[in-house]
Amino acid sequence: MIDQNSRGQGSNRLLGKVAFITGAGSGIGEATARACAHQGAAVAVVDVRREPAERVAGEISAAGGKAVALVADVRDETAVKAAVDATVHSFGSLTTVFANAGINGMQCPIEEMTIEEWHATIDTNLTGTFLTVKHSIPHLRAAGGGSIIITASVNGTKTFSLPGYSCYSTSKGGQAIFGRMAAGELGRWDIRVNTICPGAIRTNIGERTYRRNLEAVRWDIKMPDRNPPHLGRSADPSEVADLVTFLASDESIYITGAEILIDAGATILRG
Ligand SMILES: NC(=O)c1ccc[n+]([C@@H]2O[C@H](COP(=O)([O-])OP(=O)(O)OC[C@H]3O[C@@H](n4cnc5c(N)ncnc54)[C@H](O)[C@@H]3O)[C@@H](O)[C@H]2O)c1
Repeated sequence: MIDQNSRGQGSNRLLGKVAFITGAGSGIGEATARACAHQGAAVAVVDVRREPAERVAGEISAAGGKAVALVADVRDETAVKAAVDATVHSFGSLTTVFANAGINGMQCPIEEMTIEEWHATIDTNLTGTFLTVKHSIPHLRAAGGGSIIITASVNGTKTFSLPGYSCYSTSKGGQAIFGRMAAGELGRWDIRVNTICPGAIRTNIGERTYRRNLEAVRWDIKMPDRNPPHLGRSADPSEVADLVTFLASDESIYITGAEILIDAGATILRG
């Protein structure tokens, strides 16, 4: 079996599942791709960047798992449809979708944000989620149902307190609302849709984070000495992957339309 950097349940929990995971070249998506493969799923490792997608898929395959690397920009409808279709072509079906690709983008005062900066974040996080779900539906229906998991954030769903995060938070709040609407609409086909809302996770998202003139809109919030209150630390991506593999598995069959915090209680005091 694959020796992956995730606890998970090991071996066969996701045997027979085929997972389409966006943003799988790094961070939460990468950890989830490894965890899904570790638990028996075939995995499409989808990312806009070729090198990390190929590295992650290659390492999963080398360890005995089933993975294919697919390059797609989730903002591009043609590319998303092609990647979903390629997944089904490679593995015969689609049962599991993790709409996870996202960026922080530009954080700055609203009056200084350009329309290009606004679109970069909204198109990636929100429109990308819509396109990923849209083009997965026919295949999930053909499989007799499935599980869709969306990565939103505590920001925009539970907390509204990061200066300059208006665009990011709007995209994340939109994803959560879209997830609930999709859960209602797709339930008739036994397709579950759940949204996860992570707090601080140690990933490479800082590489796609830009800041300008935040001093103009900052406010002082006195954080508790221990933040988050439960563990007082940020999480490893594998800890988020454990939640996603649960939602991907049949163990969560009665859970749909949920927004699930994974933040060690960070929002108890800041929400
Ligand atoms: N890291 C955190 O603390 C945190 C907290 C809450 C929510 N999130 C969310 O988690 C998700 C994953 O982020 P991460 O922290 O793992 O970041 P990350 O930067 O480590 O990984 C994100 C991956 O998405 C890819 N990507 C970016 N734009 C893309 C596009 N247009 N098409 C396809 N792929 C694209 C990147 O190339 C990268 O490999 C994001 O939606 C993010 O908003 C992260």
